[in-house]
Amino acid sequence: MFIQVLAPITEIIGAWSIGLGPTLRAILSSPVKLLLHPSALKQFWFAKVWQVMGPGMDEGWGPTKRELVFPHVKGVVFEIGAGLGHSCKYFDLERVTKYIALEPDEEMHLELMTNALKAGLKEDQIVLIGCGLEDLRTIKEQIEPESIDTILSTFSLCSVPSLSIHLSTFVKTFLVPSGQLVFLEHVRNPRTIPAVLQKLYTPIWSIWFGGCKLDSDTINIVDSFGVWKEGRQVMAVGAPGGSGWEMFPHRLGIYLKA
Ligand SMILES: C[S@@+](CC[C@H](N)C(=O)[O-])C[C@H]1O[C@@H](n2cnc3c(N)ncnc32)[C@H](O)[C@@H]1O
Repeated sequence: MFIQVLAPITEIIGAWSIGLGPTLRAILSSPVKLLLHPSALKQFWFAKVWQVMGPGMDEGWGPTKRELVFPHVKGVVFEIGAGLGHSCKYFDLERVTKYIALEPDEEMHLELMTNALKAGLKEDQIVLIGCGLEDLRTIKEQIEPESIDTILSTFSLCSVPSLSIHLSTFVKTFLVPSGQLVFLEHVRNPRTIPAVLQKLYTPIWSIWFGGCKLDSDTINIVDSFGVWKEGRQVMAVGAPGGSGWEMFPHRLGIYLKA
């Protein structure tokens, strides 16, 4: 229990040990660019942290991701918070026709494109949109209503501000009827005291982890959209044998739009 409750602290220390050196060097070489633009500084920091932590996390979750992504993700795919493009290697390239990667952090774009191409996607199948999900106006300029077959997110919904508004609007506007939302996310612990601890950690945690909210109530938010038809599935990951004190309880979701 104690190890699980303290896990965010060890992760923050880990992030500091990765991000501090490169970020200080970058500030020294371009002080104006980074110090006058706090959002650019935050993106630089998180990209450096994710370049080190992301591959290990992807490897650890690899079997689960493959089981979730390969059989389900198909057609025109819109990935929220595509990061460094780690999901692409799990695509069934016979069934994915187009990949739209939404990634607000410009520092990740080069590696994202490189990994998408390395996974076997063709250049003309890839569209990169460099904004957050909340910027629906920019997204609308680039994609047609009801044109997305699969919305995919792994570990990104927690970083979207006002998720209930922005994701539900996105699903209602852009997902085709019978389209699906497929996700693997850490979520709010259903138990009260662990959830309170997640809430207490969140203001500090989100500074060092790209705006991620440890206490994101993703499952209840997605459940509340009122657009799903029967057949949705939500499977707990790592639940059997868990202590119930997890600060990072994960859920897989496959939701079908009516
Ligand atoms: C923890 S990383 C996960 C990256 C990738 N999905 C993966 O599994 O490796 C979270 C990602 O969400 C992105 N992100 C942050 N805020 C976002 C927003 N408002 N809308 C969309 N993506 C966002 C971050 O830039 C980052 O790439």
